[in-house]
Amino acid sequence: MRIYQWLDSRLNLKPVERTLLDEPIPGGASWIYVFGSATLFLFLLQAVTGMFLAIYYAPTPDHAYDSIQFIEEQVTFGAFVRGLHHWGASAMVVAIGLHMLQAFLYGAYKPPREVMWMVGVVLFLLVMAFAFTGYLLPWDQTAYWATQIGLNMVGTVPVVGEFLMRVMRGGEVLGALTLSRFFAVHVLFLPALLVSLIAAHLFILRRVGPAGPWTDERASLGSETFYPRQVYMDAVVMLVVFTVISSLALLVPFPLTDKANPSDTSFVPVPEWYFLFYYELLKYVHGPLEPLATWVLPMLIVLGMLFWPFIDRNPVRNPIKRPAALAAGVVFLVVVFSLLGISLKNLYAVPRIDPAIAKGRALFYQFGCVGCHRIHGEGGAIGPDLSFVGDKRPDREWHLKHFKDPQSVSPGSFMPKFPLTDPQLNELTSYMLSLKKTP
Ligand code: HEC
Repeated sequence: MRIYQWLDSRLNLKPVERTLLDEPIPGGASWIYVFGSATLFLFLLQAVTGMFLAIYYAPTPDHAYDSIQFIEEQVTFGAFVRGLHHWGASAMVVAIGLHMLQAFLYGAYKPPREVMWMVGVVLFLLVMAFAFTGYLLPWDQTAYWATQIGLNMVGTVPVVGEFLMRVMRGGEVLGALTLSRFFAVHVLFLPALLVSLIAAHLFILRRVGPAGPWTDERASLGSETFYPRQVYMDAVVMLVVFTVISSLALLVPFPLTDKANPSDTSFVPVPEWYFLFYYELLKYVHGPLEPLATWVLPMLIVLGMLFWPFIDRNPVRNPIKRPAALAAGVVFLVVVFSLLGISLKNLYAVPRIDPAIAKGRALFYQFGCVGCHRIHGEGGAIGPDLSFVGDKRPDREWHLKHFKDPQSVSPGSFMPKFPLTDPQLNELTSYMLSLKKTP
């Protein structure tokens, strides 16, 4: 207290305190207003965890994957901090989504708050850009191939697409230059932009004031200052958010897939859940309609969101008296969540391939087994067809023995002995056992 008085007498802090805490909220504090500060809190969490991750992370194709593995396995609290950063990103998308939904429902984008809404939409796009650039950084198979899809989508934009794609990629192929570029954008450019726009968003909020309830009757119930009750509610929500994210970071591991392998074009990446609905949509459009989904629709959605305050000119804010706006919002959400639902259902319907099987399949080609064995019509006919060898020989031990010394279990065999390491033996065997009529 003495220190505060001492500082106050020199820095004149009282007016600052008043601007920060005495902002009037029309109609009083409410739990419905917490999403903005929850988003801000999550941004700070991402910034802090990101700084610590950057201590160990190396943005080069040779070291990125290993450095993340090092963070996961060796660094004290490394896995926890990475977990916070990973789940924090998801939480941020949720928080910003709820915040926008609240602003939409309450008509908080209507005059005089159009500019605030537009800055908000740009903030949302920046968060998506964070998600996209951050996804590549672990440099695992998912990261590599999901980014490849994203870049290809950019490439479909007419006239400038090819150029944009090359700028984002930093050259002809997704490689070292892409990684360092994405890293720089993720940790320097985007944070600088985001911080400035958050400042602008809050500055505008202070100039125009919070929107408050949608009817004058409720607003006239009296206004209340930001401190103490709204501050208290915001703090409670931040604590809840932090508890949820910490639990997820501790309880749900988020393993890397294999290290990125640019030559393995068979890898099917799964994007983050918040891009899934779009991934699902892309499956339904092919041929001449494809550009519609890869850039026309996203562009229309973004422009529609950005200029929404000028599209919806109805001055009434009460959602019950704005059926058209409400219907537009509901249709949008129903489409997005249906696509997300379908996509999740498809994902969980196909059992995820055991990574050992995928490695085993790669070894099958690497060691030239394919030269003597046919699988589903591909390969030589010197040895037996292995298409369904998992049904014929379901015994793991048999395969292990056979690979170590074919003649020990199959006298007279001329199948060569291969110099296989123990993990390779297991992976090849897993692959053999997976070759069944009904997987
Ligand atoms: C030079 C040709 C040749 C190559 C190369 C070869 N095999 Fe064979 N393989 C055979 C022959 C011949 C047999 C049948 C005799 C036996 O069971 O050893 C056989 C048998 C097998 C069987 C048992 C199939 C059955 O129906 O009983 C499996 C499994 C198998 N090979 C897997 C592999 C794998 C995996 C590789 C690569 C690491 C490989 N083979 C490389 C020739 C080859």
